[in-house]
This record gives sequence, structure tokens and C-alpha cells, in this order.
Amino acid sequence: MIRVAVAGAAGRMGRLVCQTISEADDLTLSGRADPELGTTVSDVLSECEVLVDFTTPDTALDNARAALEAGVHVVIGTSGFDMDGLREAAASSDANAFFAPNFAIGAVLMMRFAAEASRVMERAEIIELHHAAKLDAPSGTAARTAEMMEGDVPIHSVRLPGLVADQEVILGDVAQTLTIRHVTTDRTSFMPGVLLAIRRVADLPSSPVVGLEHLLFG
Ligand SMILES: NC(=O)c1ccc[n+]([C@@H]2O[C@H](COP(=O)([O-])OP(=O)(O)OC[C@H]3O[C@@H](n4cnc5c(N)ncnc54)[C@H](O)[C@@H]3O)[C@@H](O)[C@H]2O)c1
Repeated sequence: MIRVAVAGAAGRMGRLVCQTISEADDLTLSGRADPELGTTVSDVLSECEVLVDFTTPDTALDNARAALEAGVHVVIGTSGFDMDGLREAAASSDANAFFAPNFAIGAVLMMRFAAEASRVMERAEIIELHHAAKLDAPSGTAARTAEMMEGDVPIHSVRLPGLVADQEVILGDVAQTLTIRHVTTDRTSFMPGVLLAIRRVADLPSSPVVGLEHLLFG
């Protein structure tokens, strides 16, 4: 049994992650940290081997640092935090850090196909569309997609009620366009990826590892 605590346990993602961990045969939910529940990350660290963080861009790095300093592996889903800070914290810890800007398999494939298409098509732009309460823009997924693609790829951010997390990559060339589109209808789309990261974080070959593709495709 892997003992797992969740930071952001009262949030949209955190609540679902807690439920998913509770339902997994090989995992135990050992703690829920969230100011809304009156519990802090330091309250839950002594009881867990892995901390999962779905909080806010301004708290994720502090939470990850606290976990790594305590020898606890950390799986981060929060986007928009300082990656250099995470690299620094991971370098001086025996525990591992894993961050995925997107835990949905379809989004990982969308990023991969977009990167490949950008090597042969002339130009591309990204439109990312998320629910109205998302704090950061552009999304971590869009930023990572642009990073993986060739050339300068502009990102357009849409925030509207009714959306979960969608992205379109539109590539243009002579008399044609190609659109690669990923749509999520529910946050359960992220759960298989989160479970995979929890199960694999202790055995990463280096730390931090960024991107679910490293766990899916070796
Ligand atoms: N990587 C992915 O696949 C993926 C998917 C969906 C969302 N996200 C990201 O996950 C993050 C959370 O999204 P959400 O929609 O659940 O947000 P949310 O606002 O619903 O939840 C965030 C929760 O974090 C709590 N929190 C704030 N500071 C904290 C702290 N110091 N310690 C513990 N808890 C703290 C808040 O009280 C809140 O309950 C966002 O950054 C979002 O972009 C990532």
C-alpha cells in the first residue's frame, strides 16, 4: 500500500483525486491538506510517502519544497508555478518530483502530434479554452505544447463557463490547415494519469520529470 496525501483536497481536482485514491486497492488516502479543511501540508507530511498537489500557482512550489525536504515524493498537477524553483528543490532531495501540465492521455497525444506536425507545416497557433475559474493563462498545457513545437507559436486563451479544459492546435500551410483538437468533458479524464504518476514517482530515473509522456512511452 502506498500512503498518499492530497494538497488542495477541498478543490475541484483535489476532491476527485481523494475519491480516486480511496477507491484504489493499492493506495491509502492518509491525509487531506487544504485551508478550507483547516489542515496544512505540514500536518499531513509525516503520514505519507507521496504528496499530490492540485492547489494554486502561488502555493504549489512551497508545498513541493516542504514535501521534498521531508523526504516525501511529490506529484504536481498545479500549473503556472516556478519550474526553476522545483528543479532546485529536487536537486537537494532524495525524494522525487513529477509534474504533468496535463494528466489526460488525449492531451499528451495532442501535444506529441502537434510537435511532429510543426516540423513540416509552415506556421501554427494554439487556442486553449478553460473554465472561468482557472487562475493562470496561458494554460500549462498550451505553454508546454508551444515549447515542444517548432517555430514561434502564439497562444490564445479563452475562459468561459461550461468548459473544462480544451485545446486546439491549428497548423497552416499552402491552401490548407490541420486542426488537432483535444476536448475534456469531465475531470475524471485526468485520474488514470494521476494514479500512474503516484505509482511510479518513487522509481523515476531522474527528478524532476516533466510530462506524462515519460511514464507512458518510457
Ligand atoms: N495537470 C492537470 O492535468 C490539471 C488538470 C486540471 C487542473 N489542473 C490545475 O490544478 C490546479 C487546481 O485546480 P482546481 O480546479 O482543483 O482548483 P480549485 O481552486 O478548485 O482548488 C484549489 C484548492 O487548493 C486549496 N489550497 C490553496 N492553498 C493551499 C495550500 N497552501 N495548501 C493546500 N491547499 C491549498 C484551495 O483552498 C482550493 O481548495 C490548478 O492550477 C489547475 O490549473 C491541472
